Amino acid sequence: MIAKSQWIDLALLRAFEAEGTDAHRLCTIDNGWAERFGRDILISFRTTAARDGLAHELSDWGKSVEFPIGRVFARFLPKKNEERETPKLLFGNEGENLQTNATEHHLKFGIDFGAGYSVGLFVDQRENRRFVRQTKPKRLLNCFAYTCSFSVAAASVGAQTVNVDLSKRSLERGRQNFGLNSLSTEGHQFVADDVRSVLHRLARRGKNFDMIILDPPTFSRTKRGEAFHVESDFEELIISALELVDGGARVLVSTNCETLNEQALERMARYCLKLSRRAGSLHRQPPPVDFPSGSGASTIWLTLH
Ligand SMILES: C[S@@+](CC[C@H](N)C(=O)[O-])C[C@H]1O[C@@H](n2cnc3c(N)ncnc32)[C@H](O)[C@@H]1O
Repeated sequence: MIAKSQWIDLALLRAFEAEGTDAHRLCTIDNGWAERFGRDILISFRTTAARDGLAHELSDWGKSVEFPIGRVFARFLPKKNEERETPKLLFGNEGENLQTNATEHHLKFGIDFGAGYSVGLFVDQRENRRFVRQTKPKRLLNCFAYTCSFSVAAASVGAQTVNVDLSKRSLERGRQNFGLNSLSTEGHQFVADDVRSVLHRLARRGKNFDMIILDPPTFSRTKRGEAFHVESDFEELIISALELVDGGARVLVSTNCETLNEQALERMARYCLKLSRRAGSLHRQPPPVDFPSGSGASTIWLTLH
């Protein structure tokens, strides 16, 4: 049994409900965490003791805050990408549709517990998506767009977006997320290609954006076999992105890679600015209230001068 952990309290649960958010972290421990998507729960674990401990505590937490738990899914957090698995149902109705919706600040996002390791929304980016809506960009380039959650946030405040991801299927889910929010995809682009090639192509065509999202995975490989390692390739990506922005534009530099904390991202961003002979300032959004310090993605916003 693991020690009793810190679960979000009733006041925070109510605050999320009041702001129209039902996708968020419930509890974080050393070897895992629990997140909520609507009434369904996803437990992510490194050890079976962590999984069982979180499942046990979840049931107590649900009773204490009178939360009507739907299904409980669990997924193992492997060290290697190849060992990633689709979440497994721990409790609940096997016959229920694995596809459901969750909301964040009243925006809807499709969740699919059967589509693979990730279910469709990274809740640790909530504050960054909020920042996107607050700053109302006009032209957003969403690199590594996945299900286009940043673009939905931007489109909801009037932006035109270009979404780039290797996965056609994820981009299709992105289009569906636009539809869920009654946003037309007309004028938005969905490009299934390597971000690096697209950045060069956009620069050759003289394209320009007032916001760029760079939130790459730790490692990936294209169909042509080209590898991307965030630790060694992020700087090149930032430098390419800087060719597409003028003064006043903002670039999100973000990663889940455990070896790159915010200080490391800050050093990278400053180095890239220097190399590109550009000036800019850096800031961080307040960390999400449901994430203990040091958990969740490391992120830095770069504002060009
Ligand atoms: C960490 S997720 C991005 C999450 C996204 N920013 C969000 O907040 O929802 C990584 C995504 O990058 C895509 N990807 C990985 N390597 C890529 C590459 N070289 N070019 C384009 N997309 C890539 C994957 O298909 C996946 O959808």
